[in-house]
Order: sequence, then C-alpha cells, then structure tokens
Amino acid sequence: MLNYKRYKRIPVVNFPERTWPDKEIEKAPVWCSVDLRDGNQALVEPMVVEEKVEMFNLLVKLGFKEIEVGFPAASQIEYDFLRTLVDRKLIPDDVEIQVLVQCREHLIKRTFEALEGIKKAIVHIYNSTSTLQRDVVFHKDKDEIKDIAIIGTKLVQRYAAECDTQVRLEYSPESFTGTELDFALDICTAVQETWGATRENPIIINLPSTVEMTTPNVYADQIEWMNTHFKNRDSIILSIHPHNDRGEGVASTELALLAGADRVEGTLFGNGERTGNVDILTVAYNMFSQGINPELNIENIREIAEIYERCTKMDIPPRHPYAGKLVFTAFSGSHQDAINKGMQALHERGGEFWEVPYLPIDPSDIGREYEPIVRINSQSGKGGVAFVMDTF
Ligand code: KIV
Ligand code: ZN
Repeated sequence: MLNYKRYKRIPVVNFPERTWPDKEIEKAPVWCSVDLRDGNQALVEPMVVEEKVEMFNLLVKLGFKEIEVGFPAASQIEYDFLRTLVDRKLIPDDVEIQVLVQCREHLIKRTFEALEGIKKAIVHIYNSTSTLQRDVVFHKDKDEIKDIAIIGTKLVQRYAAECDTQVRLEYSPESFTGTELDFALDICTAVQETWGATRENPIIINLPSTVEMTTPNVYADQIEWMNTHFKNRDSIILSIHPHNDRGEGVASTELALLAGADRVEGTLFGNGERTGNVDILTVAYNMFSQGINPELNIENIREIAEIYERCTKMDIPPRHPYAGKLVFTAFSGSHQDAINKGMQALHERGGEFWEVPYLPIDPSDIGREYEPIVRINSQSGKGGVAFVMDTF
C-alpha cells in the first residue's frame, strides 16, 4: 500500500474575508514570458543563441511586453545572449527586458554590465523564504533572510543610480507557497520600502508557487491575503509565477487572478522546471473562449507550436489544450453528429456567438481545423454506426 502517512497536509489559510470565489476574470493581466529563463534552464538541451533569438522574436511577435531573457551573471552564454539582443538591435522600444539575479553584489554588478545600452529593464532579484529552505538549506533565521533581500534591493538601487538604463525592480520571495504569510508580507514590505516604491514608480512583487503544494484555492487565498494586507498597494504590481507540480498551474493562475494578481509570469506550452511553469497560452485562450481579449497575438497556434517545438526540442502532447493534435477531433459518431448539427444551426441562424456542442471554441479562430475521425469501434453504439453509415 502507498505510504501516504509520510506526507503532511498543507494547512489551508484561515481567511473567511476572502472575496475571490465571487469574482470573474474581466481582463488580461500583464503577461511576462519566462521562456528564455525558467523555460530554457529546464531543457534537456538548452537553446543555442540562434534558437533563443528565434524564440525571442516569436515572443515579441506574440505581443509580450515583458520578457525575462535569462540570468546574465550566471554564465558567459547567458551574458552573451543579452548582448546579442542589444548588438542586433532586437529589443523593440515597447518591450522591457527582464533579467534574473540573486541578491549578491558581484552578480548584480555583472548584471548591470550586461544591461549596458538598454533603455529600460526589469531587474528581478529573489531569495528563498520558505520555512523548509530557511531550515535545511540556508540555516538562517527570518531576520537574516530578510537582510539578504534588503541588501539586494540596496545594491540594485546603487547600480541603477549609476547607469543609463531605466530600471524597475522585481522581488520574488522564492518558495512563497511554503512561507508563513506574515513573514512573506514582512519581507516584501521591507523590499518595497527600501526601494521607495510609489504609485508612479511601482515595484513588482512576484509571489511564486515555486513548487505547487496544494489546491488552487489555497494559492488564491494566499494571494488575496497578501493583496489585502500590503501597505500602499498602489505602489505594487502584484505578480504571480505558478508552477505546475500538481497539474493545476492553469487553475492556480486563474484563481490567483480572481484574488487580485495584476501580472502573470509563465511560458509557452508550460515549459519549465519539473512539470513546468504555467502555460500562458492556455490561460490566454481560456480568456479568449470567455469573450475576453487576451491581449496577445495568438491567432496562429500552429506557427507558435512549430517554432516552440523546433527551438526547445520539446513535444506538445496530443491532448494539450488548444495546441494538441487531437484536441479538435471527434472520434465518436454521436459527437460528430452533434457537431455537424451545431455548425449547421449556427450557419442557418447566423448566430453572433460560437455555440457548437463539443467544440468550446471555433478551431479556425486559432488556425486549427475540426477533424472528424471516421471509425467504428466497440464504443460507437447504434447511433454512431448509423451516423457514420449515413454520412460517409
Ligand atoms: O519558481 C520560482 O520561484 C522562480 C523564481 C526565481 C521567481 O523561478
Ligand atoms: Zn520558476
């Protein structure tokens, strides 16, 4: 028998004031792609410069205005890629490059060297804050962990003052979902105040589910709790960065948006560490399917998938929402019958809205086609067999 007793249940948040269950998603968040950082670092075969350039150009074409391009202080390859973007003048004026760096002086210095000549950038600092990591990895108490974040903030402030790049700060309490909420609030507020965030110059506070530990409602509670406890909330852009360890990254993202998140970091098709980051495309197409403008140019999923698969050498599973080979097929005769009748009714009635059984969206809206698969098998039933016989 599975030894389930080895696992502790993650406590839920005692937060009866929560309002997110009664909310609806109304508009697209600010999207930030982390394909070239979290996505790339998790590839069996990381992208080479030309593949990264192609991926960067795709992200720009898709309409991402914030793109994390790597960890330039981590290696020469990462550094050189950012310089390639600058040297080839590939960064449009309306796109902000984001760079990740730990709160350490030599790394922050090197990061600023890599930013030379860039008009505006987001410098993203992070340190791990969870109870477990404080204990077993860092052997530091809360004040010592908080000091790391404050020192990092001051260093970014100092280097930003000395350079020509217009810098915005992003801070992530990494492993947020395993951090006590009052401590997460304390450390984020210390960074917010040290940076001197204002309504005009807000800070990005990014609350990652570095590891997805529990059900999406708990993440939503954590986000709403933070959202409502921050001081000077209008000096904060509240960002989320969900991973997908339980396969609930999209749901966590959607509930966290209900809970007040302004910004989402994720990747195309959910590439990223372990089970991946949240799949931004699925979140965006889900919005689209609800009549919300996703604010991304995602009309051609075939092209996106082709470039993604070629650059990352990852396969998109056949049942992946929207992009998978099989997601706009119907094998069942009764499904095919209903789809045909739905399409005919839509055509005859000239309906304003898409309403066809079994097809939540019109595949042609995103560059796909509906494919009936003609087959009679043990599950076809009399109706299905009759339909296939009549039709084909
Ligand atoms: O998953 C995570 O916590 C991260 C941080 C660096 C934001 O990738
Ligand atoms: Zn991550």
